[in-house]
Amino acid sequence: MKIGLAADHGGFELKNKVRSWLQEAGFETVDLGAHEYDAEDDYPDLVHPLAAAVARGEVFRGIAVCGSGVGAAIVANKTKGVRAALITETYSARQGVEHDDMNLMCLGGRVIGPELARELVFAFVHARYSGEERHERRLDKLKKIER
Ligand code: RB5
Repeated sequence: MKIGLAADHGGFELKNKVRSWLQEAGFETVDLGAHEYDAEDDYPDLVHPLAAAVARGEVFRGIAVCGSGVGAAIVANKTKGVRAALITETYSARQGVEHDDMNLMCLGGRVIGPELARELVFAFVHARYSGEERHERRLDKLKKIER
């Protein structure tokens, strides 16, 4: 199962940790950068390619990290078919998938510590969309807004 990753300089260190954790757990990762630390890089340049990869189905899900996670969530949600959210606690990491079919999780590399981040990552990648009627109805409404 492929998980796409992206980060700017604010999330660079945490993104590399996320990649190691996922690989150690047997997930295939697709790291869309940044590939080296650059204090001048801009999160839209890194997160938009990840969002496009999620929307095209090239990766199962995406994890984007910037300093706060806010910019990553804003840019990711500009891509049709992407349902991204900034996540800071485990309930939403799981429930955001089960109810809302969240397919791209955003983290703040300057906000959360690595142990919490690790729990969020695994809650997210192990969660599955329930497909219940009420959630399908809400997703259909979202898709109408997107169109
Ligand atoms: C970069 O310094 C920082 O502004 C960015 O990573 C992010 O926090 C934006 O939301």
